[in-house]
Amino acid sequence: WRRIVLEEDNIGGVYMTKGYEVEIKVCDDEEELAREGADLIVERCGPALQRRGRFLLALSGGKTPRRLYELLASPAYRDRVDWKRTEVFWVDDRCVPPDHPDSNYRMANELLLSKVPLEEKQVHRIRGEEDPELAAKVYGIEVSSYMPKSLITFDLAILGMGVDGHTASLFPGDAAMTETEKVAVLVEPKGDAHRRVTVTLPVLNHVATVLFLVAGEEKAPMVREILDEGNPKGYPAGMVMPVKGELFWYLDHK
Ligand code: 6PG
Repeated sequence: WRRIVLEEDNIGGVYMTKGYEVEIKVCDDEEELAREGADLIVERCGPALQRRGRFLLALSGGKTPRRLYELLASPAYRDRVDWKRTEVFWVDDRCVPPDHPDSNYRMANELLLSKVPLEEKQVHRIRGEEDPELAAKVYGIEVSSYMPKSLITFDLAILGMGVDGHTASLFPGDAAMTETEKVAVLVEPKGDAHRRVTVTLPVLNHVATVLFLVAGEEKAPMVREILDEGNPKGYPAGMVMPVKGELFWYLDHK
């Protein structure tokens, strides 16, 4: 482990606040990254059940979490999450049908959700294929209904990071980055084929356990800028610092 407590000297910007503790694990490869991620999810399921009787798990799309989803569905892990008391959400999804190749729901369903004992009502898909604006509102209400007035939103959120420092569908400079009231908003990433619905930063900053999974040499400079230099430019991935939760960054060995 490299436990970094962000001190004055490595806080270039205002975003990584002084003394904020980030637990960083540098893994040897993507297989270990996935295994460590699966272990953390298994470990955090129990405390969530004790806290609220349910485990609110929020997933990301992208390539990085694929192996983690496969592992969670494998015999080595499948029975170690109490799926019967788990509610599955997404931190974002594209506004496409659930069977579309770009759907984050489709990827998680194929690799994990269809292989573990979950009822449909426990899977909270972002239904952006019809009316994206409405989908953002409906999803926000659905997410909020599971966390009335509690300071904790999701119990665990799996996040990725793009080379540009985005996370979920919160992109640098996007108006969604300044949203402080709504739970979920519609975004139109420049040059992206699809509009997306994403949860907002306040939701991510009230998650009990945030797990970033970041792999690939091309992301190393952004990881350093966020974790070693304190995110001076305010990239979205570096602005996720759960106010009462834990922040883990699991990296592959690059
Ligand atoms: C998405 C994710 C997005 C992803 C990053 C990293 O919907 O695509 O939520 O934030 O985590 O783009 O993607 P990779 O894991 O494919 O590098």
